Amino acid sequence: MKVSAEDYESIINSLKGQLPSLPLVMDELMTIIADPNAALYAIRDIIKLDPSIFSQILKIVNTVQYRGDGEPRISNLNDAMQRLGLEKVKRIALNTSVLTLFKGITFPSKFSPESLWIHSVGVAIASANLVEFLNLPLADQVYSCGLIHDIGKLAKLKFDQENFCMELNRAEESKLNNHQIEITQNGIRHDVLGGEICKEWGISPLIEAVAKWHHELERSKRLDVEDLETHKIIDVVQFSNEMMKEIEFGFSGHNVKLTPSSRIMRRLKMSENDVDEFKIKLVQELEQEKENIAFFTS
Ligand SMILES: [Fe+2]
Ligand SMILES: [Fe+2]
Repeated sequence: MKVSAEDYESIINSLKGQLPSLPLVMDELMTIIADPNAALYAIRDIIKLDPSIFSQILKIVNTVQYRGDGEPRISNLNDAMQRLGLEKVKRIALNTSVLTLFKGITFPSKFSPESLWIHSVGVAIASANLVEFLNLPLADQVYSCGLIHDIGKLAKLKFDQENFCMELNRAEESKLNNHQIEITQNGIRHDVLGGEICKEWGISPLIEAVAKWHHELERSKRLDVEDLETHKIIDVVQFSNEMMKEIEFGFSGHNVKLTPSSRIMRRLKMSENDVDEFKIKLVQELEQEKENIAFFTS
C-alpha cells in the first residue's frame, strides 16, 4: 500500500516534539544568507551566540592554510572573520549547526551522523561549485540546499529505526539505493518526508523543494515546482548527490553509483568534457576541505 499525503502528515505529527527543532542559529543564518546585502557584522552577531560555531571558526582559521606559518595565533572573532571571509564563515556556521542537528538523532551501527553529514557537506560543496561553474544564480542558497537535502533520513531514523535498518540491509543486498528501495517497497520516502519537515520548520521554499524532489528526474513530476530556476537547482543538487557517490565522499546509507543522468546533463547544458572538467576541480576542492572536515568530526 502506498504511503499517502495524510500518512506523511501523521508521521510529522507523531514526530512533533521528538525531532530536533531547527536550531535558532541555523534559522537566522539561512535568512541572512538568502539576503545578498547581509553584511559580515550581521553574521558575527549570530555566531557570537553559539560557542560551538565560534570554536570551529578558531580551529579552522588557525590552520596553516589560513594563518600561515609562524604567524601569531588568532583568537578573536573579528580577526578570524576578516581572515576567512564572509563565504567561508557562513559555511562553517551552517556546517556546525547541521552536524549538531544530526548528532541529536540515534543512528544504527552501520550508519553514523558524521558519515551522513560528510555526504551532505560534499553535496553542498559540489552544488555551490556547480552553480558557479555553470554561471547560475542563487549560489548562496544552493549550499544550504545541498546540506539539508537528505534531512528526511533523520526523520525516518526517528520514526521507525528498525524499518529503516531493514531498508539499509535490503539496499545493500539488492544493490539498490535508499530511494529505489523506498519506491519498490512503497515505503516512506525520505525525500517527501524531508520536504514536509522543511515546510514544518518554515525554512526557504527553495530548500523545501530541493529536499522534496532531489530524486525526481522528471520535471513534470515535481508537482508544485513552477519556476525554472528552482528546477535547475534541484537538477544541480541531484547531479551533485550522484557525484558524491562516484567519488566516494561520505556515506548516505548505500554505495550504489549511478552515472550522471544524460537528461540532467542536457538540461544543465553540460557536455561529457564539462562533467570531467568539473569533477577534477571538485576532487581538488574536496581534498583541500578534508582537513577542515576532520576538525568537525574529531
Ligand atoms: Fe536522498
Ligand atoms: Fe544524498
